[in-house]
Amino acid sequence: MEAGAHADHLAPRKPMLRFQPMAPRPTHPTAWLLAACCAVLWVAIILGGIAILVVYLAFRPRYPRLEIAGVTLNGAYLDAGTLLNADITILANFSNPNEKVDVSYSYMQLDLYFHGAMIATQAVEPFDEQRGQAVLRSVHMMSSQVPLTPAAAKAWSDGTMGQGVAMEVVGSFRTKSVLAGWMHYTYWLHRHCKIAVGAPPNGALLSSSCAAKR
Ligand SMILES: *[C@@H]1O[C@H](CO)[C@@H](O)[C@H](O)[C@H]1NC(C)=O
Repeated sequence: MEAGAHADHLAPRKPMLRFQPMAPRPTHPTAWLLAACCAVLWVAIILGGIAILVVYLAFRPRYPRLEIAGVTLNGAYLDAGTLLNADITILANFSNPNEKVDVSYSYMQLDLYFHGAMIATQAVEPFDEQRGQAVLRSVHMMSSQVPLTPAAAKAWSDGTMGQGVAMEVVGSFRTKSVLAGWMHYTYWLHRHCKIAVGAPPNGALLSSSCAAKR
């Protein structure tokens, strides 16, 4: 009974409804195409995201490390009380802690700081590093007539006549890795190392600790 009542009720409306979809019909193919494109795009984005996540989890890339393996303060003197001249050799240990990822450096630079002021800088010849590999590089740094503040100059002369000097080495690298043969992974990396060096003429490394800073 109820079904019949519904049919009776709807019956007179049918001719009116039939005309409504006629008007927007010319735009339908474009709308369908747009919707299909959107759907394909979304599926591609989601699949791409999943692929990147899977590769990332499978390879677990880690940043390369910098450690200071040795330092020699060959010579240093203050000109006119505050102008620093120093000759320092740093033995830097660049290591790749990854088990599955090779790293290629395209730019490398070490900066040397004393009391917040840069006293020397040196570029390092770039190289490639395989998984688990550690590469040692001897980096010769020279300071020539670098002006220090009176407080820094006093700290330097006290240190070189006594227990040694504390300095900071900042390593900046542009590195690239390729994961699974297609996922290129390029980034800038900064490593900060605090070092303590004995007095010249053969000041050796007393202590060193490095941390990452992006
Ligand atoms: C260089 O660093 C690696 C990784 O930390 C370490 O195993 C190796 O002993 C270091 N080499 C030197 C000479 O310090």
